[in-house]
Amino acid sequence: MPIIAMTNQKGGVGKTTSTLNLGAAFARLGRRTLIIDDDPQSSLTQGLLTPDATFVMPPERTIYALFAGLDAGPSELVVEGVFPGLDLLPGSPRAGSFNRPEPHTVDPDHAALFAEGLDRITAGYDVVLIDTAPSLQFNTWVALLAADAVLVPAQAEAYGNQGIAIVFDWLHLVGHVRGRALPIAGLLVNQHKSRRGLQQAVVDALREHFPETLSTAIPDTTDIPEAINLGKPVQAHKPRGTAAKAYDAVAREIGARLAALGLMAGDGKDRGEAEDAREAA
Ligand SMILES: Nc1ncnc2c1ncn2[C@@H]1O[C@H](COP(=O)(O)OP(=O)(O)OP(=O)(O)O)[C@@H](O)[C@H]1O
Ligand SMILES: [Mg+2]
Repeated sequence: MPIIAMTNQKGGVGKTTSTLNLGAAFARLGRRTLIIDDDPQSSLTQGLLTPDATFVMPPERTIYALFAGLDAGPSELVVEGVFPGLDLLPGSPRAGSFNRPEPHTVDPDHAALFAEGLDRITAGYDVVLIDTAPSLQFNTWVALLAADAVLVPAQAEAYGNQGIAIVFDWLHLVGHVRGRALPIAGLLVNQHKSRRGLQQAVVDALREHFPETLSTAIPDTTDIPEAINLGKPVQAHKPRGTAAKAYDAVAREIGARLAALGLMAGDGKDRGEAEDAREAA
C-alpha cells in the first residue's frame, strides 16, 4: 500500500485539488483510498465537510492526534465514504502548532511517533494520499519521511522551475535523513491552458528539466472550482468531463509507475470494467 505525499512548497498549484480528485480517481479504479489532510489550513477537510468543520471538530479526532501521539485508530479518526471507495482523515489548524522551520533538526522520535500513528490508520488501504502545506516545515517533513513516494503538483509558468528545484533539494535532504531516496511518483502539470504557444513551450521546458513530469496534464477548467464549491470531487460533479478523465489517466499513469517501483500491485481491477463484467454476466 503506497503512501504518496502531495508536495510543493509553492501555494495554489493544486495540491489539495489533486489529492481529492486523484483520490477519487483511484477509488473509481477500485482501489480503497484514504486521503489525509496534513495542511493546517485544512482546506481539503473544509471543502469536503463544511467550512467550519475543522473548528467544531475536536482536534483529537483529526490528524492532530498523530502529531500529539494520541492512541487513536481509524474508528476515531477516519470519515468514511466521502466518495464511493474514498475515506478522509481530517486536518486541523491545531496541527500547525507542531510546525517548525528547519524540521530536520527536530527530535527524530517525534517524526517516528507520527509514522507509528499513520501505520495504525493506513492499514487496509490500497493507496494513501497526503495533502501537505505549501511550506517545508514539520507537518510536511513527517509526511515525506513516512511516504513511499512523492507527487509534485505544479503549474506550467515561466517562473515555475525555480520553485520545483527547491522541492527537489528538499527531497534530497529527506532521502539523506531516511537513508534511502524518496521515489518521485511524478510531477503533475495542473491548470494546463493550451497545447500551443508559450504554455506548451513552458511544459516542454519543464519536461526537459524534470523527466518525472507525467504525460497527462490536468486542464484548466471551471469544473474544478465548481466541484469544490459543491464539496465534491470533480468525478461526482462532471464524471465524464475533461478534468475527471485527466485524473483517471493520471491515476493509471502513477499506478503503473508505482507498480514498476514495486510499491503497488498492478492487478487493481477497474471498477467500470468490473461493473461491465457483472452486467454482461
Ligand atoms: N485544473 C484546475 N482548473 C481550474 N482551477 C483550478 C484547477 N486546479 C486548481 N484550481 C483552483 O486553484 C485554486 C488553488 O488550488 P488548490 O487549493 O488545490 O492549491 P494548493 O496547492 O492546495 O494551495 P495551497 O498551497 O494554498 O494549499 C483553487 O481555488 C482551485 O479551485
Ligand atoms: Mg492546499
